[in-house]
Amino acid sequence: MIAKIEQLLQEVEAMTANNAEELEALRIKYLSKKGAISELMTDFRNVPAEQKKEMGMKLNELKNKAQEKIAALKEQFDTRDNECDGLDLTRTAYPIALGTRHPLSIVRNEIIDIFGRMGFNISEGPEVEDDLHVYTKLNFAADHPARDMQDTFFVEVNDEDVTKNIILRSHTSSVQVRVMEHAQPPIRIVCPGRVYRNEAISYRAHCFFHQVEGLYVDKGVSFTDLKQVLLLFAQEMFGAETKIRLRPSYFPFTEPSAEMDISCNICGGKGCPFCKHTGWVEILGCGMVDPNVLDACGIDSKVYSGYAFGMGIERIANLKYRVSDLRLFSENDTRFLKEFEAAH
Ligand code: PHE
Repeated sequence: MIAKIEQLLQEVEAMTANNAEELEALRIKYLSKKGAISELMTDFRNVPAEQKKEMGMKLNELKNKAQEKIAALKEQFDTRDNECDGLDLTRTAYPIALGTRHPLSIVRNEIIDIFGRMGFNISEGPEVEDDLHVYTKLNFAADHPARDMQDTFFVEVNDEDVTKNIILRSHTSSVQVRVMEHAQPPIRIVCPGRVYRNEAISYRAHCFFHQVEGLYVDKGVSFTDLKQVLLLFAQEMFGAETKIRLRPSYFPFTEPSAEMDISCNICGGKGCPFCKHTGWVEILGCGMVDPNVLDACGIDSKVYSGYAFGMGIERIANLKYRVSDLRLFSENDTRFLKEFEAAH
């Protein structure tokens, strides 16, 4: 039997094949169920016990060699048969397409980075909120129109006590309330996040959008501080030559309140269709936190004062990148998203 194994080993070593058919014939001859090696395996049962170990090893060696050789020959034919000469099919697919950051993420990161450098921390809170945090503690009167179904998405309505209503937040000021409930001044935070309003979807409105709101509460905080911080922000975001102007406005949670315009960054303030020939574009709302809000959140309004501001990220992104249709931000069209490849 040893002699037979030796002979087969030599045959295996010398094996060659010119094509896949010849190779298959070899495989059948040696390795199939009725092949030469399988036959030896059957004979192996009759080998005397004391020879079994040595013989077994030899047989295994033969079997492995035959398998290796056939696999090696097979590889040779595989590449030829597939007509992919020169292609290494074991390589990673190339090129690996890299994703891009979403334009709203790019702009959000830029905004919070600018405020981060001025000492603001990031706070986040739930999107599914209650009326208490979105409206009541922010000094909204019980019959304020923003509480209306036209603006607010209701998740759970409580008829006995409307302040228990569960809603989707319509601004991230609710996060500021949550922070003030649990911390004492100094508080200096920005709150980025998604907000929801019940609007018909069009090129300039959506039922959700994104905000960054800011809050600073401490002793002796004044409107001047607010104005300076917003000027620095505008110049960092839109360029050193950017001017700001504040117009009186109204929000239930700030007093006094203002809306801030920047000099139109498209025409540089000379007047163009984008700024409706005024030279100015509105970018955010702001004001001094109403003492009622501080008191409702457990902060003594006789000791502390603060300012707050809030802006839409889509609005800032539009000014920076002039996106003509708001819906593009949520459609995941990769042709649109790819345009921001170089922006981050
Ligand atoms: N919460 C306001 C809004 O969503 C923005 C704002 C924040 C205005 C803080 C003033 C102060 O429109």
